[in-house]
Amino acid sequence: MNTLRKIFLFLFILIMAVYGCETIKSVKQIMPIKEYEQLLLGRLDANYIGTNNCLSSCHYHDKIRRDFEASTMGAQMSEKTHLPLVNCESCHGPGSLAIEEITPEKVEKDAAAGKQTACKNETFINLKALPPQAQSLMCLKCHAENASFNLHNWNTGIHAVNDVSCYNCHNIHAGVSLITKRKDVRDMCLKCHQTQAAEFSLPSHHPVMEKKLTCTDCHNPHGTSKEGLLIEDTVKETCTRCHGEKEGPYAFEHADVNDECMACHSPHGSVNNNLLKVSEPFLCLQCHHGHTTTSDAVTKKSKGAYYTRCTDCHSQIHGTDIPSASGKGRFIN
Ligand code: HEC
Ligand code: HEC
Ligand code: HEC
Ligand code: HEC
Ligand code: HEC
Ligand code: HEC
Ligand code: HEC
Ligand code: HEC
Ligand code: HEC
Repeated sequence: MNTLRKIFLFLFILIMAVYGCETIKSVKQIMPIKEYEQLLLGRLDANYIGTNNCLSSCHYHDKIRRDFEASTMGAQMSEKTHLPLVNCESCHGPGSLAIEEITPEKVEKDAAAGKQTACKNETFINLKALPPQAQSLMCLKCHAENASFNLHNWNTGIHAVNDVSCYNCHNIHAGVSLITKRKDVRDMCLKCHQTQAAEFSLPSHHPVMEKKLTCTDCHNPHGTSKEGLLIEDTVKETCTRCHGEKEGPYAFEHADVNDECMACHSPHGSVNNNLLKVSEPFLCLQCHHGHTTTSDAVTKKSKGAYYTRCTDCHSQIHGTDIPSASGKGRFIN
């Protein structure tokens, strides 16, 4: 092997090594699941003591408790069912150390000094500081198994992959409801998706800002096995939940173009009428030759002016059962 070839070979290996490392580095580190699980154990020297023991000594968290017990999740620890499936320690970890030093005397002394007794909350799991994967794992300990069917794809969903956790959308102690009300879902999503706010303000748009429909009418924020987080398997199925008349099948289909609503429409908003990606006639001219007023459309002899609004005549653009004059489907009728 001559020297030149050796130098090239060396350079090649060097470049591959540097590039190789770059790609590996840029891949997000994901820890083995057991390491996340360990983060959720809490202090091993603490014991579980139950909600009553936790809270009866200082009443610091009475409001949180009231709200929690009134919520669907908290109802699971109701006195009546005797099924304490969920209590404070399910999430916060064992609490014995936190109240260790709270004695009736201390509570009295604090009260005399005009303050409320606080527990040692630093002995609990620091939930806010956990990596997002661990935060979600904590919720999924219970929610993967129970009826939350639409969480089955959580881990493959784009939200999980991008470090969004359950906490981002469900504020456990915000009040009685753990679910964002339908009318507030939009603003919750737009906090992170500002581009979409602009899209819904374009001249033609789905009336999301007007609160006639909302993001979760089309998206499943919990993750799907496909791109786009859509609530149905395909875009078409999602759209035809509301626009059923565009579903077909028609005697004269617009080839299989009509299966791809996004070939012509933007989902959120557009500067063009009818949510069109491109205005007419350019929309149609992407795939067709235009024809003119005087020309025979079929022979394409062009005389006269080109049409600007193809759908003035081809008004059944999504498909039709009625043939045109030539007996073909030209979407005229
Ligand atoms: C389903 C899990 C879960 C359960 C059950 C739960 N919590 Fe929490 N709690 C959280 C999470 C998550 C946070 C922190 C997230 C946040 O504040 O945004 C938190 C925060 C808190 C805080 C700090 C609040 C603040 O404003 O910083 C207190 C106090 C608290 N919880 C008390 C309780 C009490 C008391 C109970 C039982 C009645 C309870 N929690 C049950 C998940 C839970
Ligand atoms: C110890 C088990 C357990 C843990 C941990 C848990 N949940 Fe729950 N959760 C339940 C049960 C049980 C219900 C009530 C039954 C149901 O709706 O499936 C519930 C209900 C809910 C609901 C529905 C409330 C409604 O009004 O329909 C939401 C939202 C929820 N949990 C979110 C969370 C989040 C977010 C976390 C993590 C911070 C979490 N849960 C952790 C057991 C748990
Ligand atoms: C991007 C925001 C977002 C994230 C992240 C998120 N949720 Fe939700 N979740 C919602 C919305 C919005 C609803 C209301 C349901 C609806 O409108 O379809 C909901 C509903 C629920 C419900 C009750 C209804 C049902 O579908 O059974 C449960 C339980 C729940 N979420 C648990 C979780 C858990 C557990 C996680 C984390 C693994 C999580 N969510 C992450 C937005 C989110
Ligand atoms: C805490 C921030 C946050 C919140 C809240 C949030 N998202 Fe996301 N979302 C993200 C991130 C990060 C991505 C990853 C891609 C990106 O940067 O756009 C994403 C991606 C998406 C995608 C793109 C899917 C794809 O395959 O390209 C959709 C759709 C989406 N989110 C819908 C929603 C909806 C609907 C809500 C409200 C229920 C919501 N998001 C709330 C952060 C958030
Ligand atoms: C009428 C149905 C519909 C509504 C309502 C809707 N979306 Fe979408 N969204 C879609 C479709 C369809 C796509 C494109 C999916 C694809 O091409 O695979 C999409 C794509 C997205 C994407 C990916 C990036 C992009 O723009 O292509 C994000 C992020 C997103 N939507 C967020 C939101 C948010 C946030 C809301 C509410 C404020 C919302 N969507 C409301 C149908 C909808
Ligand atoms: C949850 C119901 C719902 C879903 C799903 C839905 N739409 Fe709509 N769509 C509406 C409503 C409501 C309007 C407004 C009708 C009105 O103002 O009279 C609308 C209007 C439209 C318009 C006319 C806009 C204009 O400027 O006049 C088009 C085009 C459209 N939708 C296409 C789609 C496409 C493509 C999809 C799939 C990505 C889709 N829609 C999914 C409810 C829905
Ligand atoms: C080949 C391009 C094209 C495709 C593909 C397409 N559309 Fe359209 N769509 C149009 C045009 C052009 C208009 C405006 C019609 C007019 O001006 O008469 C329109 C109008 C609409 C309207 C509003 C007016 C009305 O007739 O109600 C809805 C809703 C709509 N389309 C839904 C859909 C859905 C759902 C799909 C997918 C199944 C789809 N479109 C696929 C071109 C297309
Ligand atoms: C994404 C490409 C695409 C777009 C955009 C598109 N079409 Fe088509 N169109 C097709 C295909 C493919 C066929 C089937 C052609 C064939 O069978 O020879 C077709 C068929 C037709 C036919 C019937 C032609 C025949 O030979 O029977 C008419 C008429 C038509 N389109 C009009 C329109 C109009 C008007 C628009 C704009 C609103 C439009 N198309 C937008 C791809 C498209
Ligand atoms: C004034 C009414 C009218 C307008 C406007 C119009 N067309 Fe047509 N088009 C027709 C008629 C009529 C036929 C032939 C119908 C038949 O075969 O019976 C036709 C046929 C077609 C065909 C199928 C024959 C061929 O040439 O391959 C296509 C594709 C087509 N038009 C596309 C367009 C496009 C793109 C536009 C907008 C630039 C447009 N048309 C505007 C009336 C119109």
